Amino acid sequence: MKNKFFIKTFGCQMNISDSERIETVLLSAKFKKVNSENLADFVIVNSCSVRQAAENRAISTLKNAKKNKQVAIVTGCSAVKEKLRFKNFADFVLDIKDLQKWPDIILNKNTLQQDLGSLNYLKFQPKYQTKFHAYVPIMTGCNNFCSYCVVPYSRGREVSRSVKEIIKEVKSLIKQGYKAITLLGQNVNSYSGKFNNQKIDFPALLKIINDIDGDFWIWFVTSHPKDMSLKLIKTIKNCKRVCHYIHLPAQAGNDVILKKMNRKYTHAKYLKLVKSIKKYLPDACLSTDIIVGFPGETKKQFLDTCKLFKEVKYDMAFLAKYSPRPGTISFKMKDDILQDEKKRRENFLNDILRKTALKNNKKYLGKTCEILVEKKDIGRTRTFKLVKFNSDKDLIGKIVNVKITKAMAWILQGEIKN
Ligand code: 5AD
Ligand code: SF4
Repeated sequence: MKNKFFIKTFGCQMNISDSERIETVLLSAKFKKVNSENLADFVIVNSCSVRQAAENRAISTLKNAKKNKQVAIVTGCSAVKEKLRFKNFADFVLDIKDLQKWPDIILNKNTLQQDLGSLNYLKFQPKYQTKFHAYVPIMTGCNNFCSYCVVPYSRGREVSRSVKEIIKEVKSLIKQGYKAITLLGQNVNSYSGKFNNQKIDFPALLKIINDIDGDFWIWFVTSHPKDMSLKLIKTIKNCKRVCHYIHLPAQAGNDVILKKMNRKYTHAKYLKLVKSIKKYLPDACLSTDIIVGFPGETKKQFLDTCKLFKEVKYDMAFLAKYSPRPGTISFKMKDDILQDEKKRRENFLNDILRKTALKNNKKYLGKTCEILVEKKDIGRTRTFKLVKFNSDKDLIGKIVNVKITKAMAWILQGEIKN
């Protein structure tokens, strides 16, 4: 019987989280998970359409599956956005919102006629990737329409999950011994729910989750700078489980480019926000996303991004070369920055980043930090810094104290303290 499946996930944590739910639904329909693409009867590609490169990789995985006479299934952002085009590469193009019906669809059972309607797919208990850190979506979609971005088209408008459902999932994770949860949303700061007849915004949700009994850390991504409030910063300060790591995508440092990107903040406003974060959370680590070579970005405009890097002193940055995406507003603008120049700008930012990250990391020297152990010899601080250590014991999933002895730009080294 054909029942073996393999999921290949591209893109962001939201896709990883969706794949965890796909696994649950297929396993409960008696499918079997295999750990290699070659062994599978059904190859499921959870695609990302944020950049052309990720989409190309998804397509080649599908083509490969077809060539090997496997059933090629595609879901995720690319599939939703361009269903017709993806039908050329896959046997099934499925929407995650219909997850409940997938087993019947891919086994060609004709139960679709008595369509039950879609259950909110987030209700499925995910098959989490680890036993100590779980992703918990609090909202999906986005209303911001940054001019370069496909997400509002592929994931649709913002929908917040109910407070009750989120609390239920977090409580169950804590009961199972999870040590960290990451609250997920394209823009967590526009969370809007209700609880006991009261409107719950993101800071209120954080406080509710923080007050759940147990010993766990809370991370969250992603914050849009235009929506990050002083109230949120103060809430983070007052909630002991909420970790001081803030991912705050700037995308660019020049006001003209920011305007063309439809980001709705200026360099000065972003910097003011960073100053507030550093004032209330002096130990906070900051990371960002940057797009280099947006249409028309001059060298001078790019230097404003370099300036921002020197001012903020990021700990980490995810740098991307602008990639024109069909259907977005900026797709109509001329992609006029050459690939080599984009690469040069990326390298330039990376050089600044390496210096600020190293300088920030040196502040950890001699300090003792709690780390959540992720692999045999690597863990993460509450501020999301990787720490390497030596130990004969299996400490995976445990929170241990480590004294930092060496600082490099991308990783710290430390000794376990008893
Ligand atoms: N080209 C390059 N990078 C992009 N991103 C989103 N859309 C594009 C694009 N068209 C980047 C942004 C975003 C991250 C998830 O991906 O920096 O924050
Ligand atoms: Fe895309 Fe902008 Fe929404 Fe982020 S906030 S998902 S970059 S449209």
